Amino acid sequence: MLKFGIIGCGRIALKHAESIVALPEAELVGVCDIVPERARAFAEKYGAKPYVDYIEMLKNPEIDVITVATPSDLHAPIGIAAAKAGKHVMVEKPMAMTLKSADELIAACREAGVKLAVIHQNRFNKSIKLMRTALNDGRFGKLTHGQATVRWNRDDNYYAQAPWRGTKLQDGGVLMNQSIHNIDLLQWMFGPVESVFGYTTTMLRKIEMEDIGVAVLKFKSGALGIIEAASTIYPKNIEETLNVFGETGSVMVGGIAVNRIETWEFQDSEQEKAEIFASQENDPPNVYGFGHREIILDMIQAIWEDRPPAVPGEEGRKALEIILSIYKCQETGMPVVLPLRE
Ligand SMILES: NC(=O)c1ccc[n+]([C@@H]2O[C@H](COP(=O)([O-])OP(=O)(O)OC[C@H]3O[C@@H](n4cnc5c(N)ncnc54)[C@H](O)[C@@H]3O)[C@@H](O)[C@H]2O)c1
Repeated sequence: MLKFGIIGCGRIALKHAESIVALPEAELVGVCDIVPERARAFAEKYGAKPYVDYIEMLKNPEIDVITVATPSDLHAPIGIAAAKAGKHVMVEKPMAMTLKSADELIAACREAGVKLAVIHQNRFNKSIKLMRTALNDGRFGKLTHGQATVRWNRDDNYYAQAPWRGTKLQDGGVLMNQSIHNIDLLQWMFGPVESVFGYTTTMLRKIEMEDIGVAVLKFKSGALGIIEAASTIYPKNIEETLNVFGETGSVMVGGIAVNRIETWEFQDSEQEKAEIFASQENDPPNVYGFGHREIILDMIQAIWEDRPPAVPGEEGRKALEIILSIYKCQETGMPVVLPLRE
């Protein structure tokens, strides 16, 4: 059994805590938040020890794995401190706010000989696993183009919940916060990106960064990708959709959090299609989906088997680079050819 500590006891940390306590392979032993009541409430609810200073918690020799669920700019420095304390590290997305700090986190984990996983839990959605298996089996033939769409609603009350939300240094806008999962999936399906062009704007929300972002990607394969991200959709979350099209296959996965297959077309797929549609998952209760438990279990197995986790730091870095490239396009009005120089 592996022992876990959570740093940051806010909204998403609930998913971490519930996933850890539901797994027989894991135990939650420590929780930390700079707001003492939050740490105490989590500790009482989940039977763990509360801390207000993560440096203190990292001294606990019992803890094997740290999950970092603080505002996004703290993922890298806290992850580095955890690695230096000999803990395996899981960080929420985005893994860092700059490529420099992402690289420092990756290097610190490598030097300390600990595993680093970035929480892109939608890779574990049933629909996405089916899509990826079809891709691995070559069923799409030559990939032609794809689309990652996030049409969600985050109103001013959402952004007012905490001062870090929507800021340049700590959060980013709808691309960096809400759409990074889908951008990760798009690049995971289509492979390395050659160039990016995009625009961002802030149309409705009172935030420093974008509430709308659109971009086109050219993949090294020659395939093209489209990104549309909006937190302005009236009056509620409508969809998070990933479409992948190829010479001999078309798959469209929608629902509110890329969980529902809407189109599944391959040669000779009629029976399979009927089975897939009959065993569809319902929409999850919120856009966080069902994947946290699986990605935490994958980390445990990666540690036991001494293999890389499903989404190691190098993988988490890819979506970050695409989003930072779109931000650079917005600043310069020019396309970005990767690798991005910050
Ligand atoms: N994987 C997902 O689907 C998903 C969903 C939501 C949020 N997130 C990510 O999770 C992170 C947290 O988001 P949230 O919505 O839970 O935010 P939140 O504001 O609800 O929670 C963050 C918590 O971190 C605490 N904190 C701040 N500094 C700290 C420090 N130095 N030490 C310990 N605790 C500290 C805050 O007091 C707060 O309780 C963000 O990076 C966000 O992008 C991921």
